[in-house]
Amino acid sequence: MDTVSHSEEETKIIARDFTKKIPAASVVALRGDLGAGKTSFSAGVLAALGAVGPFQSPTFVIMHRYDLPRSSVQGIRRVYHVDAYRINAPEELARLGFDEWVSDPEGLVLIEWPERVETLLPASVTSVSLEALSDTERRISWESLSVGGLMRGAGE
Ligand SMILES: Nc1ncnc2c1ncn2[C@@H]1O[C@H](COP(=O)(O)OP(=O)(O)O)[C@@H](O)[C@H]1O
Ligand SMILES: [Mg+2]
Repeated sequence: MDTVSHSEEETKIIARDFTKKIPAASVVALRGDLGAGKTSFSAGVLAALGAVGPFQSPTFVIMHRYDLPRSSVQGIRRVYHVDAYRINAPEELARLGFDEWVSDPEGLVLIEWPERVETLLPASVTSVSLEALSDTERRISWESLSVGGLMRGAGE
């Protein structure tokens, strides 16, 4: 999937369509620079799942958990919105309970700045890439791919 969004609102609509394809227990890695739209895209996913806002960036709390008022069609009941921007070492996020969030069979993990904790990511993540093309345009693409599977536990 590869598309161009022309506004924050359009990014949320694209996120809503993306949400329909995401099964429970998925990990979605949101990649892109500061201001690319990772949090806006996350807000679109949360709205699509019926989570109760406001949907603020979890930059300072690291993880914001949303308990959905009703289960989604895919069986998602909880969303763990993670921002690893302020995490200096993967162990810090591990200590906060990352493995529990990832292994919640009724959970969905959205993680911004996944590259900061790449070694913690499960073998199968869906990566969404956002790239600013102008003030208002963002290229948004995604694919399912394996990251870190073989590297897990190695290095760092
Ligand atoms: N097409 C677009 N999609 C998403 N955000 C956009 C778009 N055009 C402009 N913006 C602006 O870019 C910023 C994106 O911020 P945010 O979602 O917090 O990014 P990130 O989480 O990647 O740092 C917001 O101020 C938003 O209004
Ligand atoms: Mg953000």
